[in-house]
Amino acid sequence: MPSLSLSLTTPFLLLVFCLIGLLLAADDVCPGGSHLRAPDTRLNLPTGSVVGNCPTEAIPLVMAEDDKYGNKMVISLTPRLYDYVLNNVREHEILRQLREETAISQIQVSPDQAQLLAMLVEILGAERCIEVGVYTGYSSLAVALVLPESGRLVACDKDSNSLEVAKRYYDLAGVSHKVTVKHGLAAESLMSMIQNGEESSYDFAFLDADKAMYQEYFELLLRLVRVGGVIVIDNVLWHGWVADPMVDEARTINIRNFNKKLMDDKRVSISMVSIGDGMTICRKR
Ligand SMILES: C[S@@+](CC[C@H](N)C(=O)[O-])C[C@H]1O[C@@H](n2cnc3c(N)ncnc32)[C@H](O)[C@@H]1O
Repeated sequence: MPSLSLSLTTPFLLLVFCLIGLLLAADDVCPGGSHLRAPDTRLNLPTGSVVGNCPTEAIPLVMAEDDKYGNKMVISLTPRLYDYVLNNVREHEILRQLREETAISQIQVSPDQAQLLAMLVEILGAERCIEVGVYTGYSSLAVALVLPESGRLVACDKDSNSLEVAKRYYDLAGVSHKVTVKHGLAAESLMSMIQNGEESSYDFAFLDADKAMYQEYFELLLRLVRVGGVIVIDNVLWHGWVADPMVDEARTINIRNFNKKLMDDKRVSISMVSIGDGMTICRKR
């Protein structure tokens, strides 16, 4: 009898195991029905590697090299993922036109950066803003567009040709009345604002001009911005070179030193964000 019950139950058990196996496998099937491999989280994997359990073109994950962060992984942009980010930016029609006219220069902030600046201005409820390094006005227009009618943006740049383009776009967007353009060396413009009694009267500042002067601009902006106000500094990752000890080019060293000083600067709270070429958001204490 025992041998009869064994011979009846064995095929039944096999069938159950097969069904369980099929169910488990079905959970792991990728959209293309492809085979599964263990996840691999290194950066720059070749085409055909996997994310989670599914093949992909490249793995957008980076692991901290420094052991003290416990192999913390963060998402990294790929061209496809960056397109996705850009497709999720709400860009004003006039900003789009300006970007398309001047994009060749590659020196203006990206649409996702401009949107972040505008968002910070809105969160702050900022009314009085400064921009150091206007170029043709992409970032300043993004800020001016979200300022209230009573708001004011002081836009500083030394290049008159660029400022003419910026002014054309402020007009087109109907925000010229909110923007005061200061043509000249930015340090002199900021100093004259201080001498004019405007210390601690601004809510928001964006710094995006000559890197050699960052520390000097920062000191002047810190005087002009009120406690609780925000200063955003662009290009703090400087093409990624700040983290490369082999790069000893002057501007990289300047930004590296600036970042180091800011890290120790108790006058501000800071947050370095890896958006665009890197931005640090500082809140005056
Ligand atoms: C990176 S661009 C600014 C881009 C702009 N924020 C945007 O997103 O469209 C830098 C600008 O800083 C200006 N600049 C450089 N040195 C300056 C200085 N010493 N004083 C005033 N402007 C300066 C340049 O003329 C240039 O237009």
